[in-house]
Amino acid sequence: MASTTDATPGIGNARFNTDAANWDSNPSIQLATSLAFQSYLSRLPPPSELSSFNVLEIGCGTGLLSLMLAPHVRSLTAVDAAEGMIEVLSSKLAPGGAHEKVKNVRPVAYLLEDPEDPVIKIDPVTGQQWEGKFDLVISHLVLHHVADLPSLFRTIYGTLKPGTGRVITTDFENFGPEARRFHPEAKMEGVERHGIVQKEMEEILRGVGFEDVKVERGFVLQKRVESEPGKGDMESGPVMEFPFLVCEGRRV
Ligand SMILES: C[S@@+](CC[C@H](N)C(=O)[O-])C[C@H]1O[C@@H](n2cnc3c(N)ncnc32)[C@H](O)[C@@H]1O
Repeated sequence: MASTTDATPGIGNARFNTDAANWDSNPSIQLATSLAFQSYLSRLPPPSELSSFNVLEIGCGTGLLSLMLAPHVRSLTAVDAAEGMIEVLSSKLAPGGAHEKVKNVRPVAYLLEDPEDPVIKIDPVTGQQWEGKFDLVISHLVLHHVADLPSLFRTIYGTLKPGTGRVITTDFENFGPEARRFHPEAKMEGVERHGIVQKEMEEILRGVGFEDVKVERGFVLQKRVESEPGKGDMESGPVMEFPFLVCEGRRV
């Protein structure tokens, strides 16, 4: 396991650095991750192929999804712009941590903007420099925090292996004004949009150059929301259903 600490200030970092310590205790986040993981696995090749994959995760947070996927792939470079999130993931992987036996995950605190950035050109397994092109890029619950989605997907495109490299992302859908209730009013810092829109995502992926673009509903998350905006009663509020879109594309 290797790690870098040269974090770059990123969007919503202050909020995520604060939230990192308690991130894993949120049952909605745990449930969303499990549902997303099943969604990813159902779209990925069989173990004989998947086990050779080098994966890049953008916005890995505390590594909930990273650590579910890691046993199925060769390596996973786990990038997040919030240093606090990466510190939590690094502590899970450190000696004495809950995942100390995992040796193929490399946490990186960084706002990745350049696909050729040397920060992702280190093999998580060997610790050596490598060509740094990925078989798969994943990202879960991140897109609604990103102001410039075409720019993010251009970066992702550049990190993938030409011809075969695939992106799969998951985030909640903007199904109308009620989608705003996904976040409590006190947690709107860094929220750029209240979910993603199928047609917009298809256009963005195609515009960047991806082929085999598919954006579809993958699963529905049942999540408690505030009974009224700003009431702060997420733990006892009503349960709402939030559909999640899975966005897929292949680098030409
Ligand atoms: C809602 S959290 C989700 C974390 C994790 N994927 C999960 O589901 O538990 C969003 C994360 O994306 C990170 N993030 C947002 N924009 C990013 C970017 N452009 N590059 C890397 N990380 C980013 C934030 O720092 C934050 O940790």
